[in-house]
Amino acid sequence: MEVIDGNAVASDLLEELAKKIQTFEDQKPCVVFIRVGEDPASISYVRKKEKTADKIGIESRLLIFPVSISEDELLDKISELNTDSSVHGILVQAPLPSHIDDRKVFNYVSPNKDVDGFNATNLGLLCQENKDAFASCTPAGILELLKRTLIDTEGKHVVVLGRSLIVGKPVGILLLQKGVPGNATVTYCHSRTPDLANHTQQADILIAAIGKPHFVKKSMVKPGAVVIDVGINRITDRSRKSGFRLVGDVNFEEVSNISSFITPVPGGVGPMTVAMLMKNTVKAFEQSLDQVTNQ
Ligand code: GUN
Repeated sequence: MEVIDGNAVASDLLEELAKKIQTFEDQKPCVVFIRVGEDPASISYVRKKEKTADKIGIESRLLIFPVSISEDELLDKISELNTDSSVHGILVQAPLPSHIDDRKVFNYVSPNKDVDGFNATNLGLLCQENKDAFASCTPAGILELLKRTLIDTEGKHVVVLGRSLIVGKPVGILLLQKGVPGNATVTYCHSRTPDLANHTQQADILIAAIGKPHFVKKSMVKPGAVVIDVGINRITDRSRKSGFRLVGDVNFEEVSNISSFITPVPGGVGPMTVAMLMKNTVKAFEQSLDQVTNQ
């Protein structure tokens, strides 16, 4: 059994990006993060993204709005950033307050600056296997992790546990694509699937993105399967200064005994999400240069 070191893989990718960014003359890639409210997890995620950007030479700006901001005010701000040529990427950190329609907001970000890959245009382009599309960072990070760990997906049965817009749906679409990684047979399961274990036991590669701590038990996994744990669940732990610890959707202790490869939480998929955001920002920057020269 091998534990996949997401930090090491992400660090290789970030090093490659840093080298590439050094070759850019005059202008550097710039991403704007929008945070609404003071959700502790969002604060921590955005801080990590800012730090990583800074480390590799990407400029980042952080806009913080109170939870009382109206949907129209937020859309106006995005509109401004859409037309600002010094901004190459825009990321609106989820979750948003309930009075704001998050899908409307994601769709408002210009598809050329949608480095999160959440908007309908990019999801559509992804289905068309368009290489210029921005893929959602966590799914793209999972594929990069599989590729760099030399895990073959061709003809493999991938079972995706979860159907979210951000992870479940797009990861299945990416693994279905023609190419490497890709060419997999994909089954989607979710909270309404009867007899879930019957499906998960068939998986050569099991992707757990259901958002329930320790949901996947040993009895649900085929011996020798590759297990990718996307869950980031905060559970109370009074022995820690923070009062919580992070656990995945997989019971690591049990499942790691029978899997061939497994990602830990933290230190598996998480670092890849941030690295892919940087990769998408560099891609948005390069595409903006192409557009200028093609005019
Ligand atoms: N909230 C949790 N994960 C993400 C992410 O990848 N992007 C954004 N924008 N919000 C998130």
